[in-house]
Amino acid sequence: MSSLRPIGVFDSGIGGLTVARAIHDLLPEESILYFGDTAHLPYGEKSPELIQRYSTRIARHLVKSGCKAIVVACNSASSNALQAIISEVGPNIPVIDMVTPVVKYVTQNCAQACQVGLIGTRATIASGLYHLCFKELSSSVELISKATPLLASAIEEGFFNDSISQAVLDAYFSDETFHNIDSLILGCTHYPLIKSEVKNFLPSRVSVIDSPSIVAEALKSVLAEMDEKLHASRQMKQHHFQVSDLTKNFKFSARHFFGDDLILEEVVL
Ligand code: DGL
Repeated sequence: MSSLRPIGVFDSGIGGLTVARAIHDLLPEESILYFGDTAHLPYGEKSPELIQRYSTRIARHLVKSGCKAIVVACNSASSNALQAIISEVGPNIPVIDMVTPVVKYVTQNCAQACQVGLIGTRATIASGLYHLCFKELSSSVELISKATPLLASAIEEGFFNDSISQAVLDAYFSDETFHNIDSLILGCTHYPLIKSEVKNFLPSRVSVIDSPSIVAEALKSVLAEMDEKLHASRQMKQHHFQVSDLTKNFKFSARHFFGDDLILEEVVL
């Protein structure tokens, strides 16, 4: 298997670009094939069956396009479709999800007893996967979760760092749910775009977990284990961005993360 093959990264829309950017920063020698399923977002409001159907279709497409590893840069898909994606791509293509590496990281960095907050889409919170993973890995973490379904759609529409995102956050953070937490997981890949706004609603002692860079590190370790796939040629590096519906918002956000000079196309699966 050639090291020149790209890393496949997908999400329902722009959120996974936060993960793609972290991968680009950590592994600048790797090329990325990104797929944003803009025709079908938000995933967070879909049933597990539909999320599985969309996710496996994208994973199949990324493998057919020659990807050597798949990063599920969407918590809703990671929480509801991971096993289906793994079965779809088979044993030779590693699949890195958003939940497992972050739960491991938090567990390793948590003191004897700590309270961890989690916000995410309805589909992510309803799956209970974060709870399950923490239960398996640690008895010292108490997880407090809350679905914040308006946030991803607002961010996808470009409403961040403005009065609309402030009002939505105010509604979600005005009660005492997260009063005693030590850290907060942004359990949706759209949310890093409002990280500084979220911080303003929390006491300064609360650390907000940087999921994209944790997942990029997990990818790096997986690639290192399959060492012939590391260190792709520098000359060959070129990111490609594909969407199921070419929206203005996606173009704007892709440029925000990767500059003007990017290859962006609509691909109907
Ligand atoms: N960015 C996705 C996630 O991490 C979901 C946003 C959505 O489509 O609802 O869950």
